[in-house]
Amino acid sequence: MRIGDKHYESIWLDKDDDNAVNIIDQNKLPFKFEIISLRTVGDVFNAIRNMTLRGAPLIGVAAAYGMYLACLEITAYTKSREHLRNAAKYLKSARPTAVNLEWSVNRQMQQLAQYCRRDRLVKVALRTAHDIAGEEKDKCRKIGKAGLEIIEKLSKIKKGGTVNILTHCNAGWLACVDYGTATAPVYLAHDKGISVHVWVDETRPRNQGARLTAWELENHGVPCTLITDNAGGYLMQKGEVDIVITGSDRTALNGDTANKAGTYLKALAARDNNIPFYAALPTSSIDIGIKNGINEIPVEERDEKEVLYVEGLYNDEIVYARICPENTRASNYGFDITPAELITGLITEKGICRAGEDDIRKLLSEKKD
Ligand code: MRU
Repeated sequence: MRIGDKHYESIWLDKDDDNAVNIIDQNKLPFKFEIISLRTVGDVFNAIRNMTLRGAPLIGVAAAYGMYLACLEITAYTKSREHLRNAAKYLKSARPTAVNLEWSVNRQMQQLAQYCRRDRLVKVALRTAHDIAGEEKDKCRKIGKAGLEIIEKLSKIKKGGTVNILTHCNAGWLACVDYGTATAPVYLAHDKGISVHVWVDETRPRNQGARLTAWELENHGVPCTLITDNAGGYLMQKGEVDIVITGSDRTALNGDTANKAGTYLKALAARDNNIPFYAALPTSSIDIGIKNGINEIPVEERDEKEVLYVEGLYNDEIVYARICPENTRASNYGFDITPAELITGLITEKGICRAGEDDIRKLLSEKKD
């Protein structure tokens, strides 16, 4: 997607140094635009754990490149199979909720299982990582096309009036490779000349909405307004929201979806106000091993410091400020689960389906993607 006049993706192999995987440092955005190189499995683990890169599809793609870097780390003295098994386990432990991480590392391990020689392993791992990155990008584009139809219908109902979309967190191109999931239909609609406007939830505590989604949309010229996390319900009551679209880090077989904490409350408010609520996701985020999302999806708990402090720009420096009494303790669940019955539909690269086991199974068994 666009940053100024330049097209960027969120991850790429350095064109002059194939030992380096480049990413945009998302912990510095929107204050500083910095590109950093990941050169070891440890670098990839830390970038995922510290959220230098984040978002379910991107975490999966980065882990796939992490396995490529693990292959490069093999020397004449390394037991390659053991090294790769350890790297896979290590990468998978970086964050628990987004299933894409496990999915892409497992895919790499399956591909690599047939080879022993270092040069073959390196080649296959790089090709697989590129494949996964390319597929995720393609899936997001298709999610965009499927979701565009919904926005087009709303635009027609409003006789060309602006379609107001509310989103939570960042399910944009920064969270994927390109386009985004929840934002892909918005970008496509905007590029087609449909009048759209996005209500961007700030998304405490890390403010991915304020810091990343607002930055992305503004760079692409999409009209948007930042709102506090708790304002969405009132906007819905006032008729200012036509549709809610969020991402999903893991979708269970019954259609329950895990997404950034606060998503569930938006779905509740949307239901109370008769507003469609969609989760946009690549099918790589569907975990058919999990039958019931609420009971079984592992929800990340992060450091309480993220809640106790806010981060922002002051005198050109990124600084932290405490927002509560010194001895206050905090709880920091990173995600929540939106029950399937509150979800109007899942927008995937294979099309839109109802959030329920039968429809999900049918969608997954379809060939086209
Ligand atoms: O903790 P994060 O920033 O990785 O969480 C990201 C989200 O919750 C996104 O909505 C999610 O990954 C959707 S997929 C684009």
